[in-house]
Amino acid sequence: MHIQHCFGVSLLLLGHLNLCLCNLTPRVSFPFESPGRSVVQFTNPDIGNTTTLLLSDDEATLFVGARDAVLLLDVSQPGVMEMKDKLDWSPSSTDLDDCSMKGKKKVDCHNFIRVLHFLNSTHMYACGTHAFSPRCSYIDLKRFSFVTNPSGKPHEGRGRCPYDPYQRNTAVVVDGELYTGTVADYRGNRPVISRHLSQGLHTDLKLDDTLGWLEDPTFVSSTFLPSKEKVYFFFSEVGREYDFIDKLVVSRVAQVCTNDVGGQRTLQRRWTTFVKAQLLCHNENELPYNVIQDIVALLPTEGGAEDETLFYGIFSSQWSVNSGKSAVCRFQLRDIKAVFAGNYKVLNRDTLRWSTRVQEKFASPGQCGLHNASDSTLRFVKDNFLADQSVQPVGRILSLVSPDHGYTNIAAQRVHAAGGRNYTVLFLLTESGFLHKTVLLDKGPHIIEEVQVFRNPQRVKNIFLSITKGVVFVGSSDGVTQVPISNCSFYQSCAECVLARDPLCGWDHCSRTCVLVSSGPENLVQDVESGNAEGICRSPTVSPRSRSGVQRPPSVSCPPSEHVYVSLNEVVKLQCPEVSRLAVRHWERPNSLLSPNLYIQQTDGSLYFLAAPPTLGHYSCFSVENGYRQCLADFLVRQQASATSRAVIPTSTQNRSTTTQVALNKVTPTSQGTQPVRVRTITTEVGHGARGPELTTVQEVIQVSTTGSRDRHSGQDDRNLSSFRQPRLTETASIDGELLSVTNGKTYYWELVAVTVMLVMSLCVLLMGALYALRPHCRHRMAPQVCPGTDSNVGGDQERDPLSQPTVSVMKPSKQGMEKPMAVSSSMPRGSNGHLPNTPI
Ligand SMILES: *[C@@H]1O[C@H](CO)[C@@H](O)[C@H](O)[C@H]1NC(C)=O
Ligand SMILES: *[C@@H]1O[C@H](CO)[C@@H](O)[C@H](O)[C@H]1NC(C)=O
Ligand SMILES: *[C@@H]1O[C@H](CO)[C@@H](O)[C@H](O)[C@H]1NC(C)=O
Ligand SMILES: *[C@@H]1O[C@H](CO)[C@@H](O)[C@H](O)[C@H]1NC(C)=O
Ligand SMILES: *[C@@H]1O[C@H](CO)[C@@H](O)[C@H](O)[C@H]1NC(C)=O
Ligand SMILES: *[C@@H]1O[C@H](CO)[C@@H](O)[C@H](O)[C@H]1NC(C)=O
Ligand SMILES: *[C@@H]1O[C@H](CO)[C@@H](O)[C@H](O)[C@H]1NC(C)=O
Repeated sequence: MHIQHCFGVSLLLLGHLNLCLCNLTPRVSFPFESPGRSVVQFTNPDIGNTTTLLLSDDEATLFVGARDAVLLLDVSQPGVMEMKDKLDWSPSSTDLDDCSMKGKKKVDCHNFIRVLHFLNSTHMYACGTHAFSPRCSYIDLKRFSFVTNPSGKPHEGRGRCPYDPYQRNTAVVVDGELYTGTVADYRGNRPVISRHLSQGLHTDLKLDDTLGWLEDPTFVSSTFLPSKEKVYFFFSEVGREYDFIDKLVVSRVAQVCTNDVGGQRTLQRRWTTFVKAQLLCHNENELPYNVIQDIVALLPTEGGAEDETLFYGIFSSQWSVNSGKSAVCRFQLRDIKAVFAGNYKVLNRDTLRWSTRVQEKFASPGQCGLHNASDSTLRFVKDNFLADQSVQPVGRILSLVSPDHGYTNIAAQRVHAAGGRNYTVLFLLTESGFLHKTVLLDKGPHIIEEVQVFRNPQRVKNIFLSITKGVVFVGSSDGVTQVPISNCSFYQSCAECVLARDPLCGWDHCSRTCVLVSSGPENLVQDVESGNAEGICRSPTVSPRSRSGVQRPPSVSCPPSEHVYVSLNEVVKLQCPEVSRLAVRHWERPNSLLSPNLYIQQTDGSLYFLAAPPTLGHYSCFSVENGYRQCLADFLVRQQASATSRAVIPTSTQNRSTTTQVALNKVTPTSQGTQPVRVRTITTEVGHGARGPELTTVQEVIQVSTTGSRDRHSGQDDRNLSSFRQPRLTETASIDGELLSVTNGKTYYWELVAVTVMLVMSLCVLLMGALYALRPHCRHRMAPQVCPGTDSNVGGDQERDPLSQPTVSVMKPSKQGMEKPMAVSSSMPRGSNGHLPNTPI
């Protein structure tokens, strides 16, 4: 009754917006084949539907179940996936004819390998749909060949593998026995959870299918927990207990004991230990996320109790108002066990309704070891398999709710971060083919980065995380993709490394690199929880100047200026690179604010203004992220002597920045014969000298003509310049290309101001909160940094300074004479680990 009420309320609140203040934008995005994250792909024109993945114990070989074949890929070398062997397994022509005769499409009449598991040290077991007539076979691992059955008859695959390749199934091998969840008939309406290849005293078991133990399920996953001797199955099915809603889908966890042998009279060759319960992933005031998509177990840390095993599941919603959304919920094994130890619902066989009538308990359903139980006990067990209570997520909160990504597959890893804390990192695959690396923080999830896994979106069938290799394998229709889970060296400054908040990475002050925590030196710094780059990267102890007493204020230095030559009356667009989607960018001029009457700053980081004497000069683009301010670009806008048709203006040869190519289109006067206004986009791809080769390009030249005599003037005063903002100009301007955004920007001007003000205000609040919360952390992190090679050298300041602080030494003559400080460069390689000595930030 109260459940009904609960769902009723949810339905009433349909459309009620769930306010989530967490920012679920991936901080950095790596498009397909981006140099920052090299994705390795295995594709082959002869091979398709590579959906079943199995990694060997030594993690050197990846076995892949594909269409009509089992593949052996060599993955021993990082960044390489090479096919070493292939076992063809196609249906015979008679099988294919049969399949077509049954009215199935030809593309589905293949052998799609859907079960691939190691049985023991010498053999593997594989099953495929085999043109709607499932088959299984042993595979000899050493020779990588099928083991022919002595009887010559192929292994029947019914109950082990679906007939229909579009139906989901799950399988797990325990002690050489195969536990499966699949449909066991051609039409797909006889679902079973069963055991095959039973060994010793065990007999093959299945569910009694007369009872409706499963109601049109979609199997998602299964897992074996050794100390409990139980196999857990995860699936969604029709929740018949909610008979007031037509076909309400519910998510379930079910269990069976591995030592089950069935009953002696009652439940012969049937499970005596099968029980199931509902998994809830449900926010107040929102429709429930009721359809499980994928789930993964995260075992406790060493020494932790197995009851602390966590399951991270992706859930979507059955209702179309929630389409494209998904949620992640976390369940604990302890809670699942508690629900199975509680009361059970009872099915009234006449009315086919479930009730929660409290009854005399003859037995504990789900209990292992009922082989010799009495018939009355077994009859009780047979009727009581649906737990009354539902399994709630840990803390009754959803770990993540994504309003705009339908996640389909999940992998999870516990990461020991620099600083000692452990974090859970989830790898979530979106329907559109992006892998979101997400860390679960105390205050909510943070998406560190997204990597595009495929050029075209496609339905992924399987993802598999190898922690030792540090890669995620993704199996899809078109091939297998290997995605490195991190590339710390992509973050080239301390601030970037810390702002990324990747628990896998930490900043090494000594080598001044962002490195993998698991392989890096001891004293890395990182602040996963808050990303306090200000506190970590501008810490006074890091800057040696503080020691010599010449403490500098934390001024923000800009990259070398870019020179931009413009003609008066030209609309100039300056562009600022995006280093993070979570940063807010804004433009400044030395000692002056940018008046909104003269400038348009857009959220994409671009700045528009009309070239005029007052607007010539320096412009700097700053980004503020998490309270940390950095300068991303700097331009010096100058007046050009005369507009040439195509000019290449070298900025400077000494600077690392390359030449700026400025292309000025020839001016084409309009029919009215008025003076044109040109728009130029000046972009710099690089912030802070960060991303590989510095690139400076002028993207486009857009030519715009305006009418009206007022524009004949060279824009000597602000009023004429400000006419650039007046609507009259928009109406008369003949616009092409990107100037549209200028005029658009104009109409949204007040909105822009409002949004900016709100952003700044919320940033301030956040910043103050963060600073307050962080005070103790900062103090902790300001502890002096000792780099390898310097800590042993404690003989005296004179000895130590030149090694650890070369810049200081150069400025300050040592007591031992001038040669020593000058030997800075030669002393550098003396660092024991080859790390560079500490240098100021
Ligand atoms: C990591 O990032 C750096 C810098 O962008 C890039 O040069 C390198 O190729 C990347 N490595 C991998 C394995 O993606
Ligand atoms: C592995 O299983 C296969 C198939 O049941 C069997 O023939 C083989 O002897 C087993 N090997 C070992 C080492 O147990
Ligand atoms: C229980 O069943 C096992 C076989 O499953 C048998 O060996 C044992 O003797 C039985 N115990 C009793 C008390 O019946
Ligand atoms: C973090 O995980 C490691 C194992 O990876 C474990 O030894 C350590 O105790 C954990 N630390 C905390 C604080 O849980
Ligand atoms: C097999 O792959 C093709 C594309 O290569 C896809 O269209 C088809 O749906 C896949 N079949 C199954 C059963 O996944
Ligand atoms: C970069 O070039 C400009 C113009 O040539 C020059 O003024 C500036 O000093 C240079 N900066 C550096 C760091 O060399
Ligand atoms: C500004 O332009 C208008 C024409 O649009 C012109 O009449 C006026 O003289 C200009 N203002 C000044 C101060 O030059």
